[in-house]
Amino acid sequence: MVGRSKKPSAIPVPIPTPAPLVETSEDGSRVTATLPTGDSVEVLLYGATVISWKTANGQENLFVSSKAALDGSKAVRGGIPVVFPIFGPPPKTGPLSALSQHGFARTTRWEFLGKSSVEAMSHPSPTSPSTAAADLSDTTSPSVKLDFGLSASMLKDEERKAFPYQFGLTYSVTLAAGSLETVMHVQNQGETAFGFQVLMHTYLKVSDINQISLTGLSSTSYIDKVLSSTTHTSSSTPLTLTSETDRIYTSVPADLSHPVTVHQGQTPIFEIIRDGLTDVVTWNPWEEKAKGIRDFGPEGGWREMVCVEPGEVSKGVTVEGGDAWEGGQVVRSLL
Ligand code: BG6
Repeated sequence: MVGRSKKPSAIPVPIPTPAPLVETSEDGSRVTATLPTGDSVEVLLYGATVISWKTANGQENLFVSSKAALDGSKAVRGGIPVVFPIFGPPPKTGPLSALSQHGFARTTRWEFLGKSSVEAMSHPSPTSPSTAAADLSDTTSPSVKLDFGLSASMLKDEERKAFPYQFGLTYSVTLAAGSLETVMHVQNQGETAFGFQVLMHTYLKVSDINQISLTGLSSTSYIDKVLSSTTHTSSSTPLTLTSETDRIYTSVPADLSHPVTVHQGQTPIFEIIRDGLTDVVTWNPWEEKAKGIRDFGPEGGWREMVCVEPGEVSKGVTVEGGDAWEGGQVVRSLL
């Protein structure tokens, strides 16, 4: 055999980057996405409710009541229910009075519109749109976006009568390493303008409410629902929760330099960045009220949650015929 003095050099074979895995459950009730990093999210089509968000270390970041109904019989007590088109109890009179508390978005089955993945890039793209999410996204690891849709034709007759507009909602849930983004896009497909309130009712899981404080809400006007919806101005110190808390912080600047940060003792554990959502509701029912909420569990579970809910609720939003509106949040798990 004649030896070859120069062997041809090997052609480099690109190593495929593992792709995010997106699966629909066998019964078609939920969609899960898992990143190669181990981060995962689970969304129930009923309400397009995010019911689990785990970061790579396996840590669950959302509180879901042990008594929550996940069978589509009622709004999920926990995770991230979507509030639209009304926040709180319906008005006493007028067509909207026929809607139930927090509106129909959290109690209607949405359609899964599909996924789109963003591959890992070594450098952030300078051409990214300048949304909070784009600015925050970690482009060195892949992310996956799940889109869900809801339109007027999917409502019950009485709901369509109460909210008689041609609207289309697209709710996008994007999972990236260490963060979860939820964005609502509201399209007015008709000719008549309509108004709405919208909110992302995020139940964050904490280990002990007594150690929790929130920064980013100081020196801000808020409506205290526990004190007969009177208006107050928050102090300059972080918010600690020591009893039932139900406040709407109004007009909190919604940009990257105004995150709301949740601290456990001295350690920041979550950061919430809002885009176009200028109100922030903080809620914890505390012991007595939690006992009266039938689907709240386990006993004492209120100690393990704090709701930080970005939305547009104090003034609401009006969208003209043919126009659209968008707002969202990015929640980063810092542990
Ligand atoms: C909060 C409201 O957003 O949601 C509270 O500010 C309300 O007033 C809470 O109690 C829970 O609402 P629900 O309808 O899910 O029990």
